[in-house]
Amino acid sequence: MLLRVDFNVPIKDGRIQDDTRIREALPTVEDLMGRGARVILMTHLGRPDGQVDEAARTTPLAARLGELLERPVKHVDDCVGPAAEAAVNAMRDGDILMLENVRFHPGETRNDPVFAKQLASLGDLYVNDAFGTAHRAHASTAGIAQFLPAVAGLLMEREIATLGRIMTDPPHPLVAIIGGSKISTKIGVLKSLMQRVDRLCIGGAMACTFLKAKGLEMGRSLVEEDQLDVARSLLSSSGQGGGTLVLPLDAVVAPEARPGVPVETVGVDAVPPDMKVLDVGAMTVERFLQTCDGAAAVVWNGPLGVYEVAPFDRGTDALAQGLAGSDAETIIGGGDLVAALQKQHLAERMSFVSTGGGATLEFLEGRTLPGIAALNDRNDA
Ligand code: 3PG
Repeated sequence: MLLRVDFNVPIKDGRIQDDTRIREALPTVEDLMGRGARVILMTHLGRPDGQVDEAARTTPLAARLGELLERPVKHVDDCVGPAAEAAVNAMRDGDILMLENVRFHPGETRNDPVFAKQLASLGDLYVNDAFGTAHRAHASTAGIAQFLPAVAGLLMEREIATLGRIMTDPPHPLVAIIGGSKISTKIGVLKSLMQRVDRLCIGGAMACTFLKAKGLEMGRSLVEEDQLDVARSLLSSSGQGGGTLVLPLDAVVAPEARPGVPVETVGVDAVPPDMKVLDVGAMTVERFLQTCDGAAAVVWNGPLGVYEVAPFDRGTDALAQGLAGSDAETIIGGGDLVAALQKQHLAERMSFVSTGGGATLEFLEGRTLPGIAALNDRNDA
């Protein structure tokens, strides 16, 4: 059977930097192996644009999976055609084979039915465990389901169940914390969550656009002038039947997001004209944590500052520590936050960490994800 996973993990100089996505797929792989299936794994890695890219081969992924499973995982240098067919024909029950990067073929991202059929011809059942890629209508995530019985894997099921509950039957009080740099990429999720949460905390550079919309000066910070109206409209809907917005009280400012620059913490009403807001201050973290006090669940997506550059990671790190000790159900919306939590070994102290980045956002926006819509066992209700 064919198992689509999302092993699109960060790799530097041939070494996997974070294997979370591989580990999260283990229950499905083990379950299928245990049933004596011949497991043929498909994944993409990076964006090789329909061409073979030596740096994007799936060989290190097969090796890492083999280490984690403590058994050999074979690898074949193509995902369709004679080499792939021969490798599949040589499999025995319980064997695992990893195909080469599906994005080496242009038909993958074009969702070409001929390519999808070629992939499908390698197996008799399709299991999709690639929640992280479910927002892409590609041959190995959507098109293939036209040719084979198609069902969700265990990780896919868990992602849909956990995030789906936030959308259809949210526990209350529900708090969301949304960070990141741009409102423009998060409008959908902000609007959708405002209808479901009791309180919505805004961090990251995105908060500057909200603060500017309230009339505060943000110095040289990243402010999306074209999103000021969106921010104003969300501010005016705050507390009007939906969620209440909670904005930062203080900010860490510096001339640039560079290591070693002098930094200062100021009130959000006192951002110097020559400075940029690069993180939230300690008072804001405290305010967000107080907002989460007594919550049934907290959903968090996006860092609170320029997380990649110390010391602008402090706000995000402090919030993660606070939430790790919280009684609320903590649901982390994947993306950059996964690395932030891993660094502090806090991922296992959260109730749920999504393996999706863009997919999680689109799911929380309420959009239909093609990779889920294509499955036969999806719940249309
Ligand atoms: C991700 O990392 O978000 C998924 O693997 C999807 O990758 P993509 O954005 O290249 O389609």
